[in-house]
Amino acid sequence: MRDKKGLGDGTKESGDLCSNAVFSGLRSDFWKKIIYHESINSTNEFALSLSLRGPESGTVIIADSQARGRGRMGRVWISPPGTNIYMSAVLKPEIAVRNAAFLTVAAALACAHALRGEAGLNVNIRWPNDLMVCDKKIGGILTEIRSGHDEINFAVIGIGINVNSWGKDFPEELADIATSVKEVTGRYFSRSKIIAQILNELERWYKKLTVDGSFLLLEEWKRLSCTIGKVVRITLCSEVISGIAEDIDEEGMLVLRLASGERRRISSGDLTELR
Ligand code: BTN
Repeated sequence: MRDKKGLGDGTKESGDLCSNAVFSGLRSDFWKKIIYHESINSTNEFALSLSLRGPESGTVIIADSQARGRGRMGRVWISPPGTNIYMSAVLKPEIAVRNAAFLTVAAALACAHALRGEAGLNVNIRWPNDLMVCDKKIGGILTEIRSGHDEINFAVIGIGINVNSWGKDFPEELADIATSVKEVTGRYFSRSKIIAQILNELERWYKKLTVDGSFLLLEEWKRLSCTIGKVVRITLCSEVISGIAEDIDEEGMLVLRLASGERRRISSGDLTELR
C-alpha cells in the first residue's frame, strides 16, 4: 500500500475532487505530491511561485476554482467551482529548450488518451494544443517554463478541462465553441479519477519524450490532429495569414501552404478553421 501524499490546503475538499482520491488512482510513484486548493488565483501562478522555492519535480496543484485562470495568448480561462479540472504539474525535464513545445504535446496526448479511457471520448487536437470533441473545445493547455541558456530549469504544465459544466454555464461568446465531458456523454464524472488518468498518461508520454525523443509524440500528435488538411486562418502578432495546413514538422511548427504557393512554418498563433 502506497503512502498517501495528497495535501489539502486545510479547506474542505469538494466531493468528486480530492487529493487523496487522485493519489490512490496513480499507477506509480512518479508523482510525488498532489496539493489541493479550494480556490486559488491560478494553479500555474501558484506552481511557478512554488518553483522559485525549488519544489520537487512531480508536484501537482489541483483547484476547485480559479479567480484568475490563465489561458493562451493572455486570455482568461473561466474557472467556476464544483465542475471542471484546473491542474498544474511541475517537472524538471532534461530536454533542450528547443524541444519545450513537446511538453505541451505530451500533455495534450495524455488528456486525449485519458478522456478516451475514462469517458470513451474521441478527442482531436487542434494545432497547437486545443483539445477538441465534436468540433468544440473541451480543454486547453498552457505550459510555462523557466530556462537557462539551453536547459529547462523547470516547467509548469497547466491543464484545464471542462468536465461537469453545461453549455449554459459558459459565457455567451463561448456557448457555440466550447463543450464539456458531461455535455457530450450526458453523464457526470469524478474529476479525481480523470485527473489520476491524465497524470498516469502524462507520465507515460513524458518518459517517451525524455528517453526516446519527440518522434513518437509527433506521430501520435499528427494522428490525432484535426488541423492537417484543413484551410485555416492564423492570427500572428502582427499579421493574419491563411492557407492549407499541410503538416506539423519535427519542431512542432505548422507547415502552411499559402495561396501564393509559398510554404510558411508557424511556431505559434491563434488558429481558426475555415473549412
Ligand atoms: C488555453 O487557452 O487553451 C489554455 C488554457 C489553460 C488553462 C489551465 S487551467 C489550470 C492552469 N492554470 C491556469 O491558470 N491555466 C491553466
